[in-house]
Amino acid sequence: MIDPFGRHITYLRLSVTDRCDFRCQYCMAENMQFLPKSDVLSLEELEILCTAFIARGVKKIRLTGGEPLVRKNIMSLVNNLGRYLQDGILDELTLTTNGSQLEKYADDLYRAGIRRINVSLDTLDEAKFRHITRWGQIDKVLRGIQAAQEVGLSIKINMVALKGLNDDEIDSMLGWCVRNGMDLTLIETMPLGEIDVNRHDQYLSLQDVRDELSANWQLTESEYRTGGPARYLAVGETGRKLGLITPMSHNFCDSCNRLRVTCTGELYMCLGHDDNIDLRKVLRNHQGDRQAVEKAILEALTRKPERHYFTIDPENNRPTLERHMSMTGG
Ligand code: GTP
Ligand code: 5AD
Ligand code: SF4
Repeated sequence: MIDPFGRHITYLRLSVTDRCDFRCQYCMAENMQFLPKSDVLSLEELEILCTAFIARGVKKIRLTGGEPLVRKNIMSLVNNLGRYLQDGILDELTLTTNGSQLEKYADDLYRAGIRRINVSLDTLDEAKFRHITRWGQIDKVLRGIQAAQEVGLSIKINMVALKGLNDDEIDSMLGWCVRNGMDLTLIETMPLGEIDVNRHDQYLSLQDVRDELSANWQLTESEYRTGGPARYLAVGETGRKLGLITPMSHNFCDSCNRLRVTCTGELYMCLGHDDNIDLRKVLRNHQGDRQAVEKAILEALTRKPERHYFTIDPENNRPTLERHMSMTGG
């Protein structure tokens, strides 16, 4: 698949549920109205969608949420998609998780062929963790991370850099990751969905963070790429990497290779736009016919925008988009 700007699309981000057992401040409001179950695609329907994307050249699938591991019977989808890894049809199957259910699922994920996962962890401080996630328990997440490492999963920690909340911990988080054999990716907060706090007060440019980290760490540009939006720095002689995701301070849309589908089958061509195509309708109107879905995907591709226009404005606390991050999984 090649979009109107010549970009090759090989990466599908699939949100398998809008639900989550946390309520991270920058992602959700505390009182979220979740979708009625009947609106959500069945695991079989999600799999048909994946096969349509695979048939059109997708090589990497990331399961997201909400929290993907709170979806009931999620392993049946993971196991079925894992078969495409064995056949070399998919290069990578992975997920982004808050880690709360990892202790239970780590072994199954590895057995299904997953080798690398991203775990969202914005702080190592117990009280701060509770404050940021509202409902999360850090010890459960840390046990999950340990379980994942024990079965051989590589872990990248995702940390959204938040001024006044965890900016004083970035250096120590990098140290913790290095000591424990994990990479770290820092993320600039993005203005998606109405939340209870002012995003401008929390926004931190990663250009500044990088300069500060350079006082203690030798950071050099790296050619390493995952096919995701992060740009990587090598961390001294540690063999570890620091990823920077800078949608606000340094736009990376020119290398976008992604499409995203929500758990109700809406295909979003860009994280930063509302335009979407209803693949659930196509699926259900054509009795699950994969080729009808493929046709709809190709039509959607012609509408992929060039870039997002996220702004975080001190005077105006309105989000650029009403949709919360948890709908599309980022
Ligand atoms: P890797 O495969 O490890 O590179 O992961 P990834 O960075 O693709 O995925 P992850 O789910 O860990 O997402 C990290 C952050 O990147 C999240 O905050 C996402 O919202 C953000 N992100 C992913 N894709 C896009 C995108 O197309 N545009 C923007 N602006 N942000 C994105
Ligand atoms: N801005 C940036 N990143 C966000 N995430 C959730 N909401 C936001 C936001 N508003 C991150 C999570 C997770 C990833 C999928 O997206 O922390 O790591
Ligand atoms: Fe849940 Fe992730 Fe959103 Fe936090 S950022 S509320 S863990 S989906």
